[in-house]
Amino acid sequence: MTSVLVTGGTGRLGRRVVRALAARGHTVRILSRNPAAPPAPGADVVVADLATGAGLRRAVTGCSGIVHCATDPRRSREVDVGGTERLLAAARDAGGPHVVHVSVVGVDRIPTEYYRSKLAVEAAVERSGLPWTVLRTTQFHEFVADLLGRLARLPVVPVPRGWRVQPIDVEEVARRLADAVASGPAGRLPDLGGPEVFPVVELVRDRLRRTGRRRPVVEVPLPGAVSAALRAGAGLVPGNRSGGCTWREFLDGRSPSPLLEG
Ligand SMILES: NC(=O)c1ccc[n+]([C@@H]2O[C@H](COP(=O)([O-])OP(=O)(O)OC[C@H]3O[C@@H](n4cnc5c(N)ncnc54)[C@H](OP(=O)(O)O)[C@@H]3O)[C@@H](O)[C@H]2O)c1
Repeated sequence: MTSVLVTGGTGRLGRRVVRALAARGHTVRILSRNPAAPPAPGADVVVADLATGAGLRRAVTGCSGIVHCATDPRRSREVDVGGTERLLAAARDAGGPHVVHVSVVGVDRIPTEYYRSKLAVEAAVERSGLPWTVLRTTQFHEFVADLLGRLARLPVVPVPRGWRVQPIDVEEVARRLADAVASGPAGRLPDLGGPEVFPVVELVRDRLRRTGRRRPVVEVPLPGAVSAALRAGAGLVPGNRSGGCTWREFLDGRSPSPLLEG
């Protein structure tokens, strides 16, 4: 049994990681900016802010592992890149815990601002001098469902032509990260994708059918390097499909928040 800090332990992925670690007998500490963040069974909250560094020293003291899930896509330079550098510096001073970081498949091939930040975070972890493990995964079911929900609200639904997704069960990702803590530093793990690959247009049509909405769907050939990379499958891992629940099982409610409405 070891003491593990989970950054982003209040988030979509992080709260599952907290549960998975506690179930394996670890003592868990959740890093959050929010003093009112609810502690989980077997886990306490420590208040810290990656953007400023406040509280980080206290957060990492006594931890033999850190699962780094915190992110802020709207402030990724400041929080993901700068915040990770601050976290790693505090971790070095605290005796060098094993850092397990979660990243996104295709960060090196899909040139968005957020992915550039995620790639910079990976590089910072790798050259930190700390023992490390990095796992890249595809998009979580809930994240894909949120995007589809936003698209399906439009009166005419535009869908980038040729884009595909490989949604993954976030519980499965949490399990893999908790396992990585126990297994010890492993460097870059093989990229992990969900059980199925879907054209985005198919999921949009299915969403409209399921919510009883009759809207025209228009496939749009989006120009640019990001779209070209997505058409080429840079965000997919067809050769390494995870277990965990499928997209349909997620929608049918095996997962806690199928997000069908909206
Ligand atoms: N979403 C996906 O489909 C997907 C796919 C592959 C990989 N990932 C990666 O998985 C990780 C988790 O993603 P998620 O979707 O679970 O994120 P999320 O639900 O948006 O949660 C973000 C977390 O980051 C914390 N955070 C934000 N700014 C912070 C700051 N300044 N200081 C400290 N903590 C801060 C938040 O904690 P408080 O608000 O409590 O402070 C929150 O717990 C990310 O690294 C992401 O890149 C996500």
